[in-house]
Amino acid sequence: MIDLLTIVLAAGQGTRMKSDLTKVLHRLGGKVMVQHVLDNVFCLSKQIVVVVGHQGEEVKSTLDDERLEFVEQKEQLGTGHAVLQAREFIEDHQGPVLILYGDIPLLTEQTLKRLVTTWERSGAGAAILTAFFDNPHGYGRIIRNNQEQIIRIVEEKDASKEEKQIREINSGVYCFNSKLLVKALDNLDNNNAQGEYYLTDAISYLQAKGEKIIPVVVEDKEEILGINDRINLARAEKVIRRRINEDLMKEGVTIIDPETTYIDSRVEIGHDTVIYPFTFIEGNTRIGSHSIIGPYCRIVDVQIGNNVNLRANCHIIESIIEDETNIGPFVYIRPGCRIAREAKVGDFVELKKATVGRKSKVPHLSYVGDAEIGEGTNIGAGTIFANYDGKHKHKSIVGNSAFIGSNTTLVAPVKVGDRGRTGAGAVVTRDVPEDVTVIGVPARIMKKKEGGIEDN
Ligand code: UD1
Ligand code: MG
Repeated sequence: MIDLLTIVLAAGQGTRMKSDLTKVLHRLGGKVMVQHVLDNVFCLSKQIVVVVGHQGEEVKSTLDDERLEFVEQKEQLGTGHAVLQAREFIEDHQGPVLILYGDIPLLTEQTLKRLVTTWERSGAGAAILTAFFDNPHGYGRIIRNNQEQIIRIVEEKDASKEEKQIREINSGVYCFNSKLLVKALDNLDNNNAQGEYYLTDAISYLQAKGEKIIPVVVEDKEEILGINDRINLARAEKVIRRRINEDLMKEGVTIIDPETTYIDSRVEIGHDTVIYPFTFIEGNTRIGSHSIIGPYCRIVDVQIGNNVNLRANCHIIESIIEDETNIGPFVYIRPGCRIAREAKVGDFVELKKATVGRKSKVPHLSYVGDAEIGEGTNIGAGTIFANYDGKHKHKSIVGNSAFIGSNTTLVAPVKVGDRGRTGAGAVVTRDVPEDVTVIGVPARIMKKKEGGIEDN
């Protein structure tokens, strides 16, 4: 690995985002913008310095990574001024310095490698990643002389009418000789339309001093989309989603319609799983193989096993769904649930902090909150676990091989023993012992008697 120092600029507010949140903390594909930039440089760099300023504490705590050094830019006086805040790191450094902006999240590691190796071979003062855009509006333009050499970069706001016609743009990614960079930074001024110290002026300074400036033209223009407003953000989101989906498809996941399937970058999915359209899979979610998911599901921080059938319109959050389960349609599983192997949670069921044991079924129209259901138990349609007494939440337990009749209300805290049974419409306020059937309101033990039922 070459001795590379990387500096990532993330101090600006991002006024054009019109947001209370600093620009680099806006999310793309489930990750904050600047994290995308950093993930590409961890492998390439010996040291990474992030320049923070606007909402700096939030940026630091969101990134929270011991591989990163942070320096503060107290006032945002421009990209050149931002790099100057990392001056002591640059001075101590022998090898090249890679500079990236925190608002260009679509770059790939491959392109960065190409920039650094081109710089290395050329012995130039700096190498810049450029691209030719049909609509270059908003970007700094690359000005070349008659010999096609780069002589300077002009910002949109400072450009003349003729310069605005130039289609070659500055991506905001540079590789500098560290010694020359320090010199150039010391000579920046803020004599421009924005009254800022532009990093881009380091280029004209070095060129005037006789240093070579090497352009590296990016092949895939999409990579250097700079995010300055919400329109750029949505455009980048689309690219990231497409890349994630394509990576998953290459690993054997079927995504029926990638255009309408939204999967976060950290999500893992096993082969031969099929994802139906209009499905959102977010956060730290892992899905096994041979499962069927969707359509119209939203899954956030969920572990899903193999051979799971998750039917339409389910919303699942922070829970565990084991192998060979059948879930949905129209199921709402809130945080803290575990659905064990071969269990079924059917239509219009809501679960919260609930365990459904192996081969148990909650097939229709139930609310199961703060509950533990054993194995091989059937919960009849319309059963309600009444967990809230108006002041506190209480837990209920139903044992193994129990049978809860339709429309039962289990008034928590209450326990139904193994093989316990409740009649349809029972309101259970006291524990039900093993092998016992209760019926009625409030529920009482049913004893078999000739000609009818006897209360206990
Ligand atoms: C910059 C470039 C422009 C290039 C474009 C590519 C300059 C002067 N202009 O313009 O040539 O085409 O990027 O996307 O460099 N930042 C700080 N401190 C500051 C100012 C900015 O840390 O004082 C950070 C921002 O957080 C951001 C990055 O630097 O991540 C770029 O700043 P931005 O204001 O977006 O520059 P552009 O106008 O896009
Ligand atoms: Mg920008």
